[in-house]
Amino acid sequence: MDSIVTTVQHPSPDVTQMAKEFAIKLSIPFAERNRQSVASLKEKYKVSNLVVASAAGPTVHTATGEYFFHLSMAELRIKNLINGKHDHMVAAMGLAPGMSVLDCTLGLATDAIVASFVVGEAGRVVGVESQPLIALIAEYGLQHFSHDSHPEYNIIGTLRRIKVENAEHSEYLTMLPADSFDVVFFDPMFRNPIHKSSNFKPIRGLADQRLVAPEAIRQAVRVAKQKVVVKEAANSEEFLRLGITNIVGGKYSSVKYGIIDCVKMKAGGR
Ligand SMILES: C[S@@+](CC[C@H](N)C(=O)[O-])C[C@H]1O[C@@H](n2cnc3c(N)ncnc32)[C@H](O)[C@@H]1O
Repeated sequence: MDSIVTTVQHPSPDVTQMAKEFAIKLSIPFAERNRQSVASLKEKYKVSNLVVASAAGPTVHTATGEYFFHLSMAELRIKNLINGKHDHMVAAMGLAPGMSVLDCTLGLATDAIVASFVVGEAGRVVGVESQPLIALIAEYGLQHFSHDSHPEYNIIGTLRRIKVENAEHSEYLTMLPADSFDVVFFDPMFRNPIHKSSNFKPIRGLADQRLVAPEAIRQAVRVAKQKVVVKEAANSEEFLRLGITNIVGGKYSSVKYGIIDCVKMKAGGR
């Protein structure tokens, strides 16, 4: 991998230990910071990305910016749900407390956090992310992020319940038993307007840019008890390519959700 791990300047022993553990987990070198700048470390080790450990967790310095875990739009979307407002993803998935969701494209984990909030303690959300640096940021953030929230809005429990798997989703799906999740979700990079968001800019170069394979959709239909949902740009031809005809979303929204009804499909023997 084109990356190394270091620490902030003057790290505590715990932060140095954390950095060394990230290096082992990612199978990349650890370098002492020794008062060097991010730019000079990148130059010295000839790498594009630097993972910097601090007391707040890891930050990845890429060619396009700095990336660390944050709630992004998840907080606003959860507040809107609490206030009875509509969320197109939640509606497309038909989410309710107690359901299970496999998010095949975890990324910043924003959608997974919203799903985890809705399915609650009795539900289950697993997020699959193929890129090790992105998976590390999501996993560390979901397990350690703290927030002084109101008790009725238990964001910490919502985050902690999400399980992160650093894997390629097609391979991961083939290992799962049939009907093992209620909903399987895809939000691929290709043409997705989320690319343009400043939140995603620093990790754009790190993200897996592959299109969703038709075989991944077939596996997802096998794994999903209720629905496979694909998020795409409103004008995307991906729905057509993947054979998805039931497309929902806001009338003026730039994002749409393609839905495969697995109950109907399996009853029809397909
Ligand atoms: C558009 S982002 C997803 C954003 C996410 N829904 C959110 O709310 O933050 C797509 C993510 O899926 C990952 N990805 C793309 N193809 C993948 C694959 N085949 N297996 C696992 N992860 C994949 C990318 O690396 C990227 O992080």
